[in-house]
Amino acid sequence: MSDTFTQLTYQVFQQGKALFALAHKNVSSQLLNLIDPPVNQLQTKPVSPEVIQNLRQRLDQILETDWQDAERGVYPKSLLFDNPWEDFFHYYPEVCLDLAKTWQRRHQNQFQEFSPEIDTEDYPQYYRRNFHYQTDGYLSDASANLYDLQVEILFSGSADPMRRRVLAPLKEGLVETFHGTSPHSVSPKQIRVLDIACGTGRTLKMIRATLPQASLFGVDLSPAYLRKANQLLSEIPGELPQLVQGKAEELPYRDNYFHGVTCVFLFHELPPSVRQRIINQGFRVMQPGGVFIICDSIQAIDFPELMPMMENFPVMFHEPYYRNYITDDLVERLEAAGFENITTQNHFMSKYWIARKPPEATV
Ligand SMILES: C[S@@+](CC[C@H](N)C(=O)[O-])C[C@H]1O[C@@H](n2cnc3c(N)ncnc32)[C@H](O)[C@@H]1O
Repeated sequence: MSDTFTQLTYQVFQQGKALFALAHKNVSSQLLNLIDPPVNQLQTKPVSPEVIQNLRQRLDQILETDWQDAERGVYPKSLLFDNPWEDFFHYYPEVCLDLAKTWQRRHQNQFQEFSPEIDTEDYPQYYRRNFHYQTDGYLSDASANLYDLQVEILFSGSADPMRRRVLAPLKEGLVETFHGTSPHSVSPKQIRVLDIACGTGRTLKMIRATLPQASLFGVDLSPAYLRKANQLLSEIPGELPQLVQGKAEELPYRDNYFHGVTCVFLFHELPPSVRQRIINQGFRVMQPGGVFIICDSIQAIDFPELMPMMENFPVMFHEPYYRNYITDDLVERLEAAGFENITTQNHFMSKYWIARKPPEATV
């Protein structure tokens, strides 16, 4: 396929996903209006046509960056078309059926409702809740099966392009410190990368395509999401990533072990003190010279004009730590842990922090 044709196919593919997500959101909110008259509905801030226009431009920009990163070889172009089709056909009807339960929970503000067979006792208190009002929170196979599709719809088909923005800084950070003539140089096979809160494994799958020889590791609190990740990752060639159930704030790994650590869409779901503990753990398990990349929601300081969207998000979805998150200074937190050379980026609805553990650091 010529490059122009591949790029066009990618654009059409993404537009198709965005249109599908839009249609889903329109139909479901019309249904909600029928079932539940607007007077009972949640008070959200109106989103102006300018904000919608701004979001469209940001969406176009991230797709262009996604294409450019593939074009310059950060990852193979095939990754741009990676979509869990089987899951889509299998679970989309369930996503629709689950909407009624989600709405009910939202309207009754119930956020600690779990199926009777789920034992929540061993989990931290901040985690024992129905984030997004989703059924069973993160604690059932049914939830794990629906999660990726729900996130794709929420982000108009651009959850994966947002996740993929960790790949260029990860690869470049690893090359800078651990390749060639660097005193810390190791072979590509010796590189170890950890994805914190790996969820259903989509970021690990992308890292595998980007660093085919590296040893990959994933940690998450949810056994159900790890099972789903294991299914996804065992389908792809290469060494199977090692998945462990554990708390990010007490990482079950030794000091100075990883060359790269990533963490996608976790920080907005944490109390502030836990955010700091996880950053400290990221520092501890990282080799001197290693690169740490956090990806999460945009913050208030970066886009005051998008505040209505940021204010609506915790109203629509159960996200009790989000309001604090959007004003939390993660650069300060990273510096407090010992990281240096901290830079940030924004793409579509996400923000990225890229930080280095000093090469001379001792834990
Ligand atoms: C919003 S999801 C993001 C998952 C994945 N990174 C992605 O890109 O879709 C948050 C994930 O963080 C996990 N999680 C939440 N708190 C955690 C903690 N303290 N330690 C480990 N995992 C945690 C949840 O189980 C869930 O899989």
